[in-house]
Amino acid sequence: MPASADRKYRPETQLVHAGTLRSQFGETSEALFLTQGYVYESALSAEKRFKNEEPGYQYSRFSNPTVTMFEQRMVALEGAEAARATATGMAAVTTALMGQVRAGDHIVSSKALFGSCLYVVEEHLPRYGVSSTLVDGRDLDQWRKAVRPNTKTFFLESPTNPTLEVLDIKAIADIAHAAGATLVVDNVFSTPLFQRPFEHGADCVVYSATKHIDGQGRCLGGVILGSAKFIQDNIHTLIRQTGPSMSPFNAWVLLKGLETLAVRVRRQTDSAATVAVALAEHPKIARLMYPGRPDHPQAEIVQRQMRGGSTLVGFEIKGGKAAAFRFQDALKLVRISNNLGDAKSLITHPATTTHQRLTPAQRAELGISDGFVRLSCGLEHPDDIMDDLLNALKAA
Ligand SMILES: Cc1ncc(COP(=O)(O)O)c(C=O)c1O
Repeated sequence: MPASADRKYRPETQLVHAGTLRSQFGETSEALFLTQGYVYESALSAEKRFKNEEPGYQYSRFSNPTVTMFEQRMVALEGAEAARATATGMAAVTTALMGQVRAGDHIVSSKALFGSCLYVVEEHLPRYGVSSTLVDGRDLDQWRKAVRPNTKTFFLESPTNPTLEVLDIKAIADIAHAAGATLVVDNVFSTPLFQRPFEHGADCVVYSATKHIDGQGRCLGGVILGSAKFIQDNIHTLIRQTGPSMSPFNAWVLLKGLETLAVRVRRQTDSAATVAVALAEHPKIARLMYPGRPDHPQAEIVQRQMRGGSTLVGFEIKGGKAAAFRFQDALKLVRISNNLGDAKSLITHPATTTHQRLTPAQRAELGISDGFVRLSCGLEHPDDIMDDLLNALKAA
C-alpha cells in the first residue's frame, strides 16, 4: 500500500498497513533495517544522492527504511504531509520549537505543560535569545494579549498533563495565524485516535511515541508532523545535522505498537471511564477530572474537538500529600510510575515527581494540589483495577 493510497482507509486499517515498504523478500511483518549506512552502486551514484539528484538512503541519522515506515504510518494516521521521527518525545518537542525560532524571536505557550516541556520553553530557549510568555491556555484573551511582533509560534498540549484540562485548539490556532505565528500541539494525551489537531488548524503536531504508541513500556520515541514545507523548512535539516534521530530498532517496535494502538486505547479508555464513574462519588475524592464526563470544565470543547475520552483519570484525594502517599503505597496491582499510556495501570503523584520543579504557587495555579494523582488505566480487567483502587482508598 503506497503512502498516497493510505488515506482512504480508516484509522484502524492505517495503523496496521500504512507506510509499509516491502523488501524483495516479501516479508509480512515490517523489516528491521538495523543499519547505520548504505552502499552505492558507483561513486557517481554517491555524489548524486548527496546532491539529492537520485532517490535513496545515505545514512541512518538522516533516514532509514524502518524509520520511514513509522513516519509514513503516522503521516497517514494524522492526515499530515510529512513527519520526522525522533529519539524521544522531548527531542520532538525541542526540535519542533527550536527549528522555527532564531535569537530575538518569541514563543507563547500554555502554562499547563509536561515539566520538561516547560523547562524547554522557560529555561532552555531563553539561553539562545528566544523569549517566552506563559499563559493560562484556557483563557483566549491571554493568548491574544501575549502576542508580540516577533512571536513565531504558539505551543500547547491538550488534554494537559496532568490535570486533563482541554484547550480550544481551533480558537488558539486562529489567534496564532492572525499574528503570523504557527501552532504546535503536543497530542500525547489524546492519541491520534481521539484528536486530530490538523483538522482544527494546528501547523505541527508532536508526540512522545513512548506513551500510547509503544504502550508496552519498551522503548522511547517521538515524532514531529506537519506540511511538507513545514518539515522541510524547519525540521528536516536540524535533525539531519544535529542528530536527535530515532533508532531503527525503536521504529520497528513502535510500528508493532501502532498495529494494536486502537484496540489498546479503546479498551484502556473504557476502563478509565468506568473508574471515573465509580470514583467521582467516592467520599475520599475531593475532585475528579475526566474528559468525556459532562462535569468536565471544558465538556463543550471536548464534544467538538475530541472523538473519545482518555486513558487517564485525574483525581484529588482528601487529606493532601500524606493521604495520596498512603493511597499509592496501598495499591497492589496499579504500579507507582511517572509513565503513562502503558498496558500496565500506573499511578503518578505529579506534585512530587513530574511537576516537583514547579513552585507550590505555580502548582496551585495549575490545579496540581498535594492530594492530586494521575491514573493511567492499563489493559488489566477493569474490575481488578477498580478493586485495587477502592481497597487502597481505605488506607488514604
Ligand atoms: C505531554 C508530554 N509531552 C512530552 C513528553 C516527553 O516524552 P519522552 O518521555 O518520550 O521524551 C511527555 C512524557 O511524559 C509527556 O507526557
